[in-house]
Amino acid sequence: MLDLLVQNATLPDGRSGMSIAVQGGRIIEVTAGLDAPAAEKLDAQGLLVAPHFVDPHFHMDATLSYGLPRVNQSGTLLEGIALWGELKPLLTAEALIERALAYCDWAVAKGLLAIRSHVDTSDPSLLAVDALLEVKRRVAPYLDLQLVAFPQDGVLRSPGGVDNLKRALDLGLDVVGGIPHFERTMADGAASVKLLCELAAERGLPVDMHCDESDDPLSRHIETLAFEAQRLGLHGRVTGSHCTSMHSMDNYYVSKLLPLIAEAGVSVIANPLINITLQGRHDSYPKRRGMTRVPELMAQGVNVAFGHDCVMDPWYGMGSGDMLEVAHMGLHVAQMTSQRGIRQCFDAVTVNAAKVFGLDGYGLETGCDASFVLLQARDPVEAIRLRATRLKVYRKGRLLAETPAATAALHLADRPAATAWMHPKN
Ligand code: FE2
Repeated sequence: MLDLLVQNATLPDGRSGMSIAVQGGRIIEVTAGLDAPAAEKLDAQGLLVAPHFVDPHFHMDATLSYGLPRVNQSGTLLEGIALWGELKPLLTAEALIERALAYCDWAVAKGLLAIRSHVDTSDPSLLAVDALLEVKRRVAPYLDLQLVAFPQDGVLRSPGGVDNLKRALDLGLDVVGGIPHFERTMADGAASVKLLCELAAERGLPVDMHCDESDDPLSRHIETLAFEAQRLGLHGRVTGSHCTSMHSMDNYYVSKLLPLIAEAGVSVIANPLINITLQGRHDSYPKRRGMTRVPELMAQGVNVAFGHDCVMDPWYGMGSGDMLEVAHMGLHVAQMTSQRGIRQCFDAVTVNAAKVFGLDGYGLETGCDASFVLLQARDPVEAIRLRATRLKVYRKGRLLAETPAATAALHLADRPAATAWMHPKN
């Protein structure tokens, strides 16, 4: 007898009438029209069943701290960093853990079951590192949390930056981070990329660096990152996050840069919600969008994922852990409005993000973990358009969260009694 049998599901690739058989937390069969005895049966009624969402770029140490100790007035990245600096001496482990756990609750309810979070290693007490390692332990039964050692104040610029980062890695963080554009000079930024990639190579760790998060067309750290990835044989283990300066770079230079990124096997993470709000703040009009070149990177064969980055923190006062909102903003800012482009944006918050994360057992194939979401939508395009309700969220075959379907009762003569905003197609 099966533990769980999902029937009449539509999958992201368009197959409909599909059954997913689950035993021991894993998918043991995906086929059309299967019926078999099962402890639990779920009729998907033709709706979309997708692998769970993955956020490849987040800052969980700062989340839900909006307004502490004050709100970012200029809306810039730099004021956000300064504001976070004001908040850090006031942080307590208890409050940080409580906020992070609350965010993880939001995430699970939205079908977001894997999060890569950067954690600031600049404070010599490593309070945030210890706190998020505790959160990682506590959420492990229901959410995969991966932690990046992130020297927010600059690994070279801040006193003891290298030592603090190494001590954080010794405590068990998973990934080496960096912020070369925040070092004092372009040369220091490049030196930090080299140093951090060498550290990652020595320790056998992946790299995920905030890279060129500015509107400066001459910021070149993604180039250095790709070069170091290749030089040190880190193919497939390196990610450049944000990369917003690429938006403003010269087209000739970009035509040379993109193949380097692709050849080096470097993934790129865009954070559409955050960079559409943080970037372009020094412009009058026209204001630059400040998101990296997503369709061009994808066309070059680069793995591109979308991250949420921030929710209610010194940089961003919005957000709810909804990766469909991230995909929705991403497709608008990148003008990826074709059906293919929209589906690529869905991939950017699911399969592409899982690739960045290095998640084993991800997907809807035989042998994968039975970790999936039933959405109130019939395909990925409709899911993004509606930021569709996550009707049911399963992890390894266990039901973690349910949300009632979104419907509106109508009081209109001669019209249907209710609507759920779904296109009236067959
Ligand atoms: Fe970030």
